[in-house]
Amino acid sequence: MTQHQTADITQAVLDRLTPETDPRFREIITAVVKHVHALVREVDLQPGEWMQAIQFLTRVGQTCDDKRQEFILLSDTLGISMLVVQMEQARRSAQALKDKSASVKPTEATVQGPFYWQGAPALPLGSDIGQGMPGEPAYYSGRVTDTHGQALANVCVDVWSGDGEGIYDMQMQDAGMRLRARFHTDAQGRYDFWSIKPFYYPVPADGPVGDMLRAMGRHPNRPGHIHMMVYRDGYVPLTTHLFPADSPYLDSDAVFGVRDSLVVPFEKHAPGAAPRGKTMDQTWHSASYDFALAPA
Ligand code: BEZ
Ligand code: FE
Repeated sequence: MTQHQTADITQAVLDRLTPETDPRFREIITAVVKHVHALVREVDLQPGEWMQAIQFLTRVGQTCDDKRQEFILLSDTLGISMLVVQMEQARRSAQALKDKSASVKPTEATVQGPFYWQGAPALPLGSDIGQGMPGEPAYYSGRVTDTHGQALANVCVDVWSGDGEGIYDMQMQDAGMRLRARFHTDAQGRYDFWSIKPFYYPVPADGPVGDMLRAMGRHPNRPGHIHMMVYRDGYVPLTTHLFPADSPYLDSDAVFGVRDSLVVPFEKHAPGAAPRGKTMDQTWHSASYDFALAPA
């Protein structure tokens, strides 16, 4: 048996790849082996420390269930999810720029997060999904266009958020869906609905990722935001948020998801007449935002 010196064990692992290995997988696994070996050498990793890392990753896996995805949270809090999103955005913008007649930049994407729940109810435009929920009412409206500014009809605007205390339905024991819906743009590309003004909240911090954040001296908070997935055949699906401009933590989002272009003023209104024939007996807010989708 050949005995590998510490110096060449990295190459020895890479030499075991066979010619049949899928080329993209070869590229990725080669980089994984090289970078992890380099990390071990750089920090002079001790056996006990490597075992601690293995136990940490084991706990991350054990914390996952059908409602909780601790690996996504780990990726989010280490900035990996957002890095992947930004690189995809750069590819998409470069593609869109090739069309010299395009006049509108595609809307920026951000992290999806772990609380997307497929199959939210499809509701008529103008519906209120925030009624009876903790939080201050907010009216959302805007248009969806292509990158030439042409209105896009029948685009699905799939929205979800935590309540006014930052709690998502998926975090509540046995709760059904709430504060989620799918709307479809009208012939002029318009959408509108009522919900609540989103509030800042901590990402789940009672598991191994929370322990990691504490060890790093970091807070777990995300600024207030409402999630939106905007999609129609023929266009690149967009997963993004809108952030109220007055929310705390815009400068230190625990998952690095804030983009300046997604920070939106929420106008505050006194009780009284409100859109869609409502008469409000409390303060309410309105936010307006137009989305642009890139061609697929
Ligand atoms: C969220 O926005 O819902 C979220 C995103 C990343 C990690 C945890 C929560
Ligand atoms: Fe969220």
